[in-house]
Order: sequence, then C-alpha cells, then structure tokens
Amino acid sequence: MIRAGVVGASGLAGGELIRLITQHPELELTFLGGSTSIGKRPAELHPGLRLDLGVTVQPVTEEIADRVDVVFLATPAPVSAELAALLADRVPAVVDLSGAFRIRTPELHDRWYPKVKRRADLVDRFVYGVPELIGDRLVDAPLISLPGCYATAITLSLAPLTLGLGLNLKTVVVDGKSGSSGGGAQLRTGELHPYRNGAITPYAPTGHRHAGEVRDFLEQARPGKIGSLSMSAYGVSHVRGLLTSSYVFAGQEFDPRELQRAYLRFYKGHPFVRVRRHTETLIPVPDPHVVLGSNFCDVTVMHDEDDGRIVVLAALDNLVKGAAGQAVQAVNKRFGLPEEMGLTMQPVMPA
Ligand SMILES: NC(=O)c1ccc[n+]([C@@H]2O[C@H](COP(=O)([O-])OP(=O)(O)OC[C@H]3O[C@@H](n4cnc5c(N)ncnc54)[C@H](OP(=O)(O)O)[C@@H]3O)[C@@H](O)[C@H]2O)c1
Repeated sequence: MIRAGVVGASGLAGGELIRLITQHPELELTFLGGSTSIGKRPAELHPGLRLDLGVTVQPVTEEIADRVDVVFLATPAPVSAELAALLADRVPAVVDLSGAFRIRTPELHDRWYPKVKRRADLVDRFVYGVPELIGDRLVDAPLISLPGCYATAITLSLAPLTLGLGLNLKTVVVDGKSGSSGGGAQLRTGELHPYRNGAITPYAPTGHRHAGEVRDFLEQARPGKIGSLSMSAYGVSHVRGLLTSSYVFAGQEFDPRELQRAYLRFYKGHPFVRVRRHTETLIPVPDPHVVLGSNFCDVTVMHDEDDGRIVVLAALDNLVKGAAGQAVQAVNKRFGLPEEMGLTMQPVMPA
C-alpha cells in the first residue's frame, strides 16, 4: 500500500481527498495535517464521512516523512509554498493543489501571486499540468503541481486546437461560472447564504489568474501561438461544478468540419475527458450537473458560422476533476498504477 497524507484535511478539497483515498485500493490514509483543526477526526470535520481511520489532524513537521509516501497539500498557496520547501527531498512525492507552483515564468507568477514567495530552486522541479497532457512526466515525479479548477477546464478546451491541430489562436475570451465550493470553506460575507443564494456574482470580471496559468502552460507546451487569452468569472448559486465557455477566434484558416473529429482524436485513450455533442443527451451538454461526483470533464466544440467563432464548452466537478480526483489521477500515474484506479465512480445525477 502507498501511504498518503492530506494537509488541509478540514477543507473542501481535503475532505474530497479523504473520501477518495479511503476508497482507493492502493492508498492508505496515514496522516492528516492542518492548523486550526488540530486534534479533530475526519468525521468531526466532514459530516458526510463516518470513518474510523485512527488518525486526527496534526501539525505538519518534517517528521511526517516517516509516515507517508505521498503528501497532498490542499492548502492556501502561501502555506503550500512553505510546506513544499519543508517536505521536498524528505517525502517521495509532494502533490500541491494550490497556485504556488503552477506558473513557471517568474514575472507572471509575481503578477498573479504577489504574496506567494516560493523557493526558486523548487519551481523547475515541479511537474505541472493536467494529467492528460503531461503524459509520462508524472511517472516517478517527486514534486507535482496541479492546475486550478477553471484552468483544468480551459486547458482541456484549448489543447486540441493548439497542440492537436497546431492552430494559432488570435483571441480567446473565456467566461467561467462556478459554484460556491470553488472558494473553499472560509467564511466571507459575500459567500453567506443571503447574498449567494440565487445570485450570479461577477467576482472576477477582469483579470482572473487562471487565464495566466493556462497561457503560461500552453505557451511552453505547444506548437500553435495564442495572441490574447482573457477571462471573466462568475459565482453562481449552486455548490459544486463549473462551466467554462471559451470563445476562440483563430488566427488562420481551418476546416470547421474537422473540429469534432480533432477533439475525439486528441482525447482518444483519455477516459476522463468525454468529448460530447451538444444535443447528445436529453438535456444540452456540457452541464456541470451531469458530471458531479465524478472525475469526468465533458467537452463540446462547436463552430459559429455567423462570426467564425469556435465555441468550446467544458464542465467538471471543481472538487473532483478540478481538485482531489485529478490529484489522485496524478498520483496513480506517479506510482505506475492504472490511471483510473479508485476513480471509476459515475456522476450523481440529478443533483
Ligand atoms: N475548492 C476548490 O474547488 C479547489 C479546486 C482546485 C484547487 N483548490 C486549491 O486547493 C487548496 C485548498 O482549497 P479548499 O477549497 O479546500 O480551501 P479551504 O476549504 O479553505 O481549506 C483550506 C485548508 O488549509 C488548511 N490550512 C490553512 N493554513 C494552514 C497552515 N498554516 N498549515 C496547515 N494547514 C493549513 C486549513 O486547515 P485548518 O482548518 O486546520 O486551519 C484548511 O484545511 C487551495 O490552494 C485552493 O486554491 C481548490
């Protein structure tokens, strides 16, 4: 068995990690870490879990190296930056779910994460990316950084165009809508029920940092160039799940009839990305409600003949494919296990 620790055990992503790790046939939960929740049992923190695991939340020290083969950091980015420095070279695999090590280019990192001071020598050692796109680089990787929930959906939306078809994209505008769990379990006035319920909140109409993250990754990974990539993000009143709509104006000629085939080809052999036609089911897809609880990202590509736009829609559960599920997927690859192990749950629907 692979011994796994979760730091940020009390949080929303941490709770999902506990749920998934305890159902995984090759992972054993041996450490829970935190700050204000020290001493708590999982069942006290996550009402849905009633597991007698024999572990309570503990402070994180270098001594945890004796108890884990892999540690998941489901912590705020500044905390992850500190803990990565403490645990790198001590624990065989550190998997960070925060933004601390996502953006490689130093200037871009400082622009989007000005308060996150990370050890420069660790940056290049982190393997970052959506598991579907970084292939064998995860195998045996000691340090893994995972994309944000929106960034996962957007990267999976654009990669078949830039990496698959090699298209130059002149302009990309992304509209993202996310449920309240995307913001974690902290109390903020705007997140309270009287303000949030029924609302469509334009919390980041300009300047969302996941746009910077996607661009940094695709620019380093790809044949096709991206002219501009901008994003607006809205909070909607459901709890889980997000939808991204990427509006793409290509900078060169392409055959619109090829799009669907190109996406199917690109994601062949990647079971968690479901390329779907808009009218394929009894309700139009992608819809976050159709993927809840699962590690799937549903992607649909269309061509708007009126303005030449390529419209790519992607839906995922931000706490699963956007966080904990994707982290377990990466760990499966890291340790040479089948990618789907422990992640074969189908979505809960209706939810
Ligand atoms: N929510 C999502 O949909 C989502 C998706 C992708 C990525 N992420 C990323 O995952 C991370 C966690 O997100 P979340 O939504 O789960 O946040 P959250 O619910 O607010 O949980 C934050 C966790 O961090 C722990 N923590 C804070 N300071 C700490 C410290 N100094 N030492 C140890 N633990 C500390 C807290 O533990 P205590 O309660 O013990 O203080 C808590 O368990 C963030 O970086 C976020 O950006 C979240």
